[in-house]
Amino acid sequence: MVEATELRVAGEAALSAEDQRRLEQMLQYIRAQAETFIGYPCNGYFDYSALHEFLKYPVNNVGDPFAPCTYRVHTREIEREVLAWFAELTHIPPSDYWGYVTNGGTEGNIYGLFLARELFPQGLVYYSEDTHYSVAKNLRVLNMKHIMIRSQPNGEIDYDDLYETIRIHRDVPPIIFANIGTTMTEAIDDIVRIRKILSDLAIPESYIHCDAALSGMTLPFIDGAPLYDFRAGIDSISISGHKFIGSPMPCGIVLAKKRYVERIARSIEYIGTLDTTLTGSRNGIAPLILWYAIRTRGADGFRREVADCLEKARYAVERFRARGIEAWRNPFAVTVVFPRPPEVVLEKWQIAVHRNRAHIITMQTVRREQIDAVIDDVVASCEAAAGPAEIKG
Ligand SMILES: Cc1ncc(COP(=O)(O)O)c(C=O)c1O
Repeated sequence: MVEATELRVAGEAALSAEDQRRLEQMLQYIRAQAETFIGYPCNGYFDYSALHEFLKYPVNNVGDPFAPCTYRVHTREIEREVLAWFAELTHIPPSDYWGYVTNGGTEGNIYGLFLARELFPQGLVYYSEDTHYSVAKNLRVLNMKHIMIRSQPNGEIDYDDLYETIRIHRDVPPIIFANIGTTMTEAIDDIVRIRKILSDLAIPESYIHCDAALSGMTLPFIDGAPLYDFRAGIDSISISGHKFIGSPMPCGIVLAKKRYVERIARSIEYIGTLDTTLTGSRNGIAPLILWYAIRTRGADGFRREVADCLEKARYAVERFRARGIEAWRNPFAVTVVFPRPPEVVLEKWQIAVHRNRAHIITMQTVRREQIDAVIDDVVASCEAAAGPAEIKG
């Protein structure tokens, strides 16, 4: 293959001084924004410069990571190691799983729903109102029938509403889209309880997909965390890679029971492999990033990071409350929820809101002094706007 440097010799121009300046400005912009990045569950604490050389090749993991492929500039071997690590993490035996490295949590969720639809074309999807916004759109894309279930105030699905709704539609296979950490409050739907509902209603066939975008990388490292993985009887799971692990590009993994995927696999001559994945061309750098993180930080490293993030979440709740602001968090959550502050705070700190709630997420990169500064700003802006009583509601 032609080296990039040879290409440049062959005529590729270097960047003009003006373009170089624009890049520099862009970098400075990103650096500055990273300082106030406390409202999203993305870790920015990583250094993948050891992988830099790979960017000189058209790496592409097109198709099935477990099947041979005529496009051989790929990282499938590493991808399979990443998947094996996640399979162990989510307790599915090596012979039972299939999966791939995705573009992020959303793709993994679409994949889980796609599998469910192929297995149960008449199935009815149940998901709580706290489910990530992308899911309703994905259900439209997949043209799947669905019913939104009420949420409890903490963001967890309302089991009574779920029971009643499934009971009314007992003749249709239920497809449960469960949240293992909702976007706004990091609430965890209780898979054991959901399974009990299905068995109490004597439902013969069902499918459970877990959206574990963030918590799929925290719960395995917290003692006493609820059971949510394949041990609990789920059928597929999606976990984001750019969230807790951290990555310069969005990525994630999806795992599902192998026997389901075998039913949808199609062999494609052009790429000489199986077309089991949602997209054709797939990011071959993302598996390297995940692999590098796993190999350098390992389970012990992740456990320490999770403990540190939880400690900061506890600190944040305590500090908010000490200043008269009713912050709270779900058990096992690194998401600290507080009443929606004035706009000026949201803009400064890149804080996501939903209705009357806001949150900060104490990821690895969030420092205690940033938490203190946010709280100072929230208090000051509330006092300036309407007085502190306003924000305690
Ligand atoms: C619970 C949940 N599910 C899915 C997603 C979408 O994941 P991604 O951004 O990795 O596509 C998010 C993103 O924040 C999320 O919070």
